[in-house]
Amino acid sequence: MSTASLPATPDGTSGPTHVAIIMDGNGRWAKARGLPRVAGHRRGADAVRRVVRGAGELGIPVLTLFAFSTENWTRPADEVSDLMGLLRHYLRSELEELRKNGARLRVIGSREGLAADIVRDIADAEKMTAANTRIDVNICINYGSRDEILNAARSLARRVAAGELTADRIDHDSFERELLTAGVPDPDLLIRTSGEQRISNFLLWQCAYAELVFVDTLWPDFGKEHLEQAIAEFRRRERRYGGVGG
Ligand code: FPP
Repeated sequence: MSTASLPATPDGTSGPTHVAIIMDGNGRWAKARGLPRVAGHRRGADAVRRVVRGAGELGIPVLTLFAFSTENWTRPADEVSDLMGLLRHYLRSELEELRKNGARLRVIGSREGLAADIVRDIADAEKMTAANTRIDVNICINYGSRDEILNAARSLARRVAAGELTADRIDHDSFERELLTAGVPDPDLLIRTSGEQRISNFLLWQCAYAELVFVDTLWPDFGKEHLEQAIAEFRRRERRYGGVGG
């Protein structure tokens, strides 16, 4: 996979390889139109379809979307049920579209607390798209980064207690292998829509050096052109990773 269709950066580096998006503003989009919040989420699902296709066309190798956080369970039961319904529908009805886009789907997050049929749909969708190679599409469902980090620490602690590992040998690589994103490169670019400027417990470890781009567009209005603008902003930035730059 390559980002050959994207313009070169001033320092000649390519990328972004991995774009992560906090999709925000569905509720405000609906409210502004006097519609129920679910209408915003439905239009948000349309935006997901557009952006997956657009990212594939732009040659982005990895796209990660934050669809449902571990904190979203605190929303009113009706809204949680609407969101789960949309996710269920997406996992069942989008397989052909994902295939056309050459998209391999991976769902990142805890399966605990999800309905059994959704857990099955996730496994089926991952299996059906496993051979696709143009773009990896990760959808975060029931995901929270602090829990993910805690679980990684617990798992390593157990291995130390079992004598399989010594504490001194725990390094970035062994830690990352315990995260739900094991094998996924870190995001280079994190976009949040709707004008909010927060990370909201999303990929906290993985975004250590991500460029953050906050856009005012509400998620249901977001499309390929907005993705291109965010990438253009990313490519104007000089990434120094704590060094002094060139
Ligand atoms: C944030 O908007 C959005 C969400 C919590 C859910 C994201 C879900 C979708 C885009 C639709 C389904 C997804 C897929 C993958 C099919 P908000 O409700 O917090 O908006 P607000 O801040 O304006 O209230």
